[in-house]
Amino acid sequence: QKAADTDKAKVLKIGAEMTFPPFEFQEEGNKEYVGFDMDLARAVAKQMGYTAEIQNIGFDGLIPALEAGNIDMIVSGMSITEERSKKIAFSKPYYKSGLSIVVKGDNNSVASFKDLEGKRIAVQIGTTGAEEARKIKDANVREYNSNSEAYMELKAGGVDAVVNDLPVNEYYLTKSGEKNAKIVGDIVNAEEYGMAVTKKNTELVEKVNKAIDELKKNGEYEKIYVKWFGK
Ligand code: ARG
Repeated sequence: QKAADTDKAKVLKIGAEMTFPPFEFQEEGNKEYVGFDMDLARAVAKQMGYTAEIQNIGFDGLIPALEAGNIDMIVSGMSITEERSKKIAFSKPYYKSGLSIVVKGDNNSVASFKDLEGKRIAVQIGTTGAEEARKIKDANVREYNSNSEAYMELKAGGVDAVVNDLPVNEYYLTKSGEKNAKIVGDIVNAEEYGMAVTKKNTELVEKVNKAIDELKKNGEYEKIYVKWFGK
């Protein structure tokens, strides 16, 4: 006898690009997707009565995947921008971020975004970092599919700097064991991360916003925050 469809847990398909620690990534020897976004996405799905099914998708493929109906929601450290808001619907912000620069430890010629003029810069394809880097005069911007590749290129000396979100740069410096690198300059562009769904799915945005509020109220958001960022 077949179980009735209504008995099955409803599945919410979530897409993320997994080289963005501590938001979404895979630890060595562990297939599971972990990070602040992953815990929050699972908690939000559960709060709405769904089971989260998470897929690893290239960052520049996330919006197309949403539009094609292959996923229901993006939770990928995606900054809420005007440009993206023309295509997709964002939830209320769930994390405050911004862009910063990483250079090698012995590089004393870069102290700000202005100093990146004419320099070689590695970024992840499709990100706000890529967009910001392209605005820099005469910069030679190289776009990589993953952030791991961008950092590797810096280490190898193929580029002078990586432009990426500050918390991810900080994680790279503290957790990767990379000694010969540093963050320089001020944060540019205060950005906020939002979960994203299709414009047609207004009902889901409302549910997600409500779930985020509830998780903030019941202490679950705080717990997840402390787990990944400390106090
Ligand atoms: N916050 C930046 C943006 O929205 C970078 C996000 C990259 N996320 C990722 N999972 N690789 O463009």
